[in-house]
Amino acid sequence: MIPELSNPSVCMRDPERVHEILQSMAKSGSNTVQVISDFDMTLTRFAHNGKRCPTCHNILDNSKLISDDCKEQLKELLNTYYPIEIDSSRSIDEKLPLMVEWWTKAHELLVQQKIRKDLLAKVVQESDAMLREGYQLFFDHLHEHSIPLLIFSAGIGDVLEEVIRQAGVFHPNVKVFSNYMDFDECGVLRAFKGELIHIYNKREGALLNTGHFQELRARPNVLLMGDSLGDLTMADGVQQMENILKIGFLNDKVEERKQSYLDSYDIVLVKDETLEVPNAVLLYLT
Ligand code: C5P
Ligand code: MG
Repeated sequence: MIPELSNPSVCMRDPERVHEILQSMAKSGSNTVQVISDFDMTLTRFAHNGKRCPTCHNILDNSKLISDDCKEQLKELLNTYYPIEIDSSRSIDEKLPLMVEWWTKAHELLVQQKIRKDLLAKVVQESDAMLREGYQLFFDHLHEHSIPLLIFSAGIGDVLEEVIRQAGVFHPNVKVFSNYMDFDECGVLRAFKGELIHIYNKREGALLNTGHFQELRARPNVLLMGDSLGDLTMADGVQQMENILKIGFLNDKVEERKQSYLDSYDIVLVKDETLEVPNAVLLYLT
């Protein structure tokens, strides 16, 4: 049905079920579909030529906007908390307060650095941020078919927007829920706006944005894409959902985490740095 589903990176617990969901969604038509995707390590690459690619936070952490001393502290936070994020031996309940701690400490450090809004574009330009191969087709295809794309990220909205703007794919059908920076009248970072979005509270974030999902109530068929088990709740605000197809990128600690990903995502893409499979699914649906 979709030849790309036989790619070596593709794993499915129940291929029959995937086919059923796809058929049902295709039958309803592309005007009933919406896409909800995570950003870091889902739309962006996890690694390139053996080197890790940066998250939104890392783009700032590694930039010239941050003092050497602060860089050290941010790196220490990453070295402490990232292994916890991907630790399959701990439950989400156990990890949640630690993740809040990571985000809170990192945001406090960033605010201390008096980051200037007008330098963000340059910092993104000079970074190693990379969208996954096939991103152009992904964004352009959704735009051409007027399919709404919600990017739901626990990263930094201002940085994320700049990445997609510079890639030329920040089309009008794209909406972003994320952590946005609050700048003072001189354009200097003074805080982060609103409720913190971290890796395990996307459900609460979705439920705060009922207006968005209300607008899209004629689109009860959802394609969800993520790289963390926390991303599975991004569609919890969708009303009267008919079908949901969940595609999960499994980038790191593959063996330990494979079973839990297979249990919760319909399609698991193992160490796949491309958007080939999501693109093939979208082509099938349109
Ligand atoms: O866009 P997404 O929701 O994936 O963003 C969250 C990611 O940002 C997490 O997977 C985490 O590893 C990363 N992160 C980071 N530095 C922080 C906090 C989170 O790189 N200070
Ligand atoms: Mg992610």
